[in-house]
Amino acid sequence: MKKEDYIAYEILVKSFKDSNGDGWGDLRGIISKLDYIKDLGVNYIWLTPIYETPNFDNGYDIKDYFTLNNQVGNFSDFEELIEKSRNLDLNIMMDIVVNHTSTHHEWFLKALKGDKYYQDFYYFEENKNNKPPTNWKSKFGGSAWEFLPELNMWYLHLYDATQADLNWENENVVKEIYKIIDFWLNKGVSGLRFDVINVISKPPLPWKDDLEGDGRRFYTDGPKIHKYIKTMVKNTLLVEENLLSIAELSSTDITNVVEYTNPNNKEFVMAFNFHHLKVDYKNGDKWTLMTPDLNKFKNLIQVWQEKIQEGNGWLANFLSNHDQPRHVSRFGNDEKFHSESAKAFGMLYIFLRGTPFIYFGEEIGITNAYFDIEDYRDVESLNYFEIMLEKGISKEKVLEILKQKSRDNGRTLMAWDDSNNAGFTVGEKSWIKPSPGYKTINVANQIEDKNSILSFYKEIISLRKTKDVLSLGSIKFIESPDGIMIYKRILDDNQIIVIINMTDKIISIDESLIIGNIIINNYSDLSNNLKPFQAVAVEV
Ligand code: NOJ
Repeated sequence: MKKEDYIAYEILVKSFKDSNGDGWGDLRGIISKLDYIKDLGVNYIWLTPIYETPNFDNGYDIKDYFTLNNQVGNFSDFEELIEKSRNLDLNIMMDIVVNHTSTHHEWFLKALKGDKYYQDFYYFEENKNNKPPTNWKSKFGGSAWEFLPELNMWYLHLYDATQADLNWENENVVKEIYKIIDFWLNKGVSGLRFDVINVISKPPLPWKDDLEGDGRRFYTDGPKIHKYIKTMVKNTLLVEENLLSIAELSSTDITNVVEYTNPNNKEFVMAFNFHHLKVDYKNGDKWTLMTPDLNKFKNLIQVWQEKIQEGNGWLANFLSNHDQPRHVSRFGNDEKFHSESAKAFGMLYIFLRGTPFIYFGEEIGITNAYFDIEDYRDVESLNYFEIMLEKGISKEKVLEILKQKSRDNGRTLMAWDDSNNAGFTVGEKSWIKPSPGYKTINVANQIEDKNSILSFYKEIISLRKTKDVLSLGSIKFIESPDGIMIYKRILDDNQIIVIINMTDKIISIDESLIIGNIIINNYSDLSNNLKPFQAVAVEV
């Protein structure tokens, strides 16, 4: 398969389908839903981490890379999943987390016992002045250093204190990582998603305080990053063609993304970036309330699409994932225009140049969680809950912020039907609640309905597969009024114009843009006065 043909579906394993009633999603649950996934039209399934883990960060804290989390299943379930997926032409993709391990990993436990060989696997620093070695901040709040009184040392964690950063300068670490990659590729997975892979290259020691920020400028796309990646590809089975390798990139830039994904460089096939989603971060701060700035959103999508195309790079396109709120609530209108806005934003990114990544549940329009504090589970949300209270923000306000910003908004249960726990489990309990609308927003309710969000997603996915221009074509943006995005996909003599009203207002566009064969429309009629969240594609 060519990269242009990939269409991926991300599954947060613990929230998708629980087969044994323990309240936790599992591999057998996924196996039972393979026909549903196949029917959507996708061809890649990305599984969030399924390794043994203490689960402080959703499995992104790995205790053992060669053992499965027994809540999720065993190797015989895994092999069955690979085989049954393959029979349906579905590929399985794993999450590889190698910027850090859990502090429960045996390497870290040995380091804690004073073993120098394993201390060198991480960043351990002697305590000098009873303060952290640098002022760098953890991305989950607080210092990026944790003190170990028994050793009188500090260790680095760019994420949670239970996720210690690995030292990629140490060849022994790198060798272990290559073993992990080959182990999983040999098991029959066809793709790997590399978690926060652009922060693995730290600057040469000694490290300094960051007087302008939180330290990220020192290690983001760090000094040796491209060398590390090229060497990793050459020395593992990643060197084989036909594998999907994806870089997840934190705070990156266009130049680096081109370098990571231009096929001549033999690094990654594609990359995720997050700039287009940070349009509701007031002055760069996630933990504030802000209505998304749609002009900024439109501009970022355009600039990234155009520049990545110019550099012959390739993007993984998405609007929701396990770290983000649900986009129908964030960018759309999940009350008055639930169906229209879910369809419009789905089409907006699925028709872009690049590979679409559909996040489970968006195809039925699952909304944010709108939880009370006792329902949250995410480590980042719980950390920031305390941090914001300490800053003097009232509890009501903090809860309002979490309702918009928490990662748990995207982690609620898949809604299969309107029964208890949305049909996610055969048992009584689940690790998290479903989003509140599940009584009506569920698969059973939409599967037969030709006008449902689910049916619309199947239609756009099918168009993405049958119209070569949508997968292979180049992209060109067309000037449009505020609130509207218009782009053209072009392949030889074929052209498709994609027009999206991203607002709840009626907005007029140039009449000439809608002349042609309308291949899809989320309303039953069309004029140049686009209705709220109207989305159409016209073949010209
Ligand atoms: C990015 C993952 O998507 C996120 O869920 C995780 O918390 C961090 N990386 C740390 O592994």
